[in-house]
Amino acid sequence: MTTLHSPSAGRDFEFDDRDFRRVCELIHQRAGIALAPAKRDMVYGRLSRRLRVLGLRDFKDYLDKLEQDGGDEWQAFTNALTTNLTSFFREPHHFERLHDELRERAAHAPLNIWSCAASTGEEPYSIAITACEAFGSLTPPVRILATDVDTQVLATAAQGVYPIERIAALEPAVKKRYFQRGTGPHEANAGWCRRCAH
Ligand SMILES: C[S@@+](CC[C@H](N)C(=O)[O-])C[C@H]1O[C@@H](n2cnc3c(N)ncnc32)[C@H](O)[C@@H]1O
Repeated sequence: MTTLHSPSAGRDFEFDDRDFRRVCELIHQRAGIALAPAKRDMVYGRLSRRLRVLGLRDFKDYLDKLEQDGGDEWQAFTNALTTNLTSFFREPHHFERLHDELRERAAHAPLNIWSCAASTGEEPYSIAITACEAFGSLTPPVRILATDVDTQVLATAAQGVYPIERIAALEPAVKKRYFQRGTGPHEANAGWCRRCAH
């Protein structure tokens, strides 16, 4: 059965099974992202913004254009479809293990760590804090590479500035050592302290 998300169903664009399948195939080929059927409404919502920006009439036009001469639109397509959920020390047991590993491998320093799906940066900065704590230094012999298929989140990661509530759950000593409170119009933000390993 074909499900049609037609303009008459309160949507601006038609979005049928074939369109959804094409999106799933393209993002899987490009980024290895497997979209579950339950993501269909999310896909519609996020990509319909791209159709509006580009002034296109329907998803078929958009996907044809993407496949024929995608250019920069490939990146916008990818950015639209990623899920960037993250936080500082998300799944804390990983960082406890990392702390122990770093101490065990200290003799092999300098050490390289790759945060390959870094999102907005909370993960690589949590790695950096862990490295500082493990080596008892603000400049531990650790190099961290942070990458992500989504360029928009990486720009946030490079800035290292977060709404203050993103670091609310961190221990006061950790906040004090590794973050600086914004001032003036940036009072609601906390920035990664640049004198630390980065
Ligand atoms: C749910 S977030 C997880 C962020 C962080 N690693 C964490 O655990 O807190 C997943 C991230 O993976 C990125 N991603 C998805 N496919 C990727 C790929 N093929 N290469 C690099 N990053 C990818 C997404 O853009 C997104 O930012």
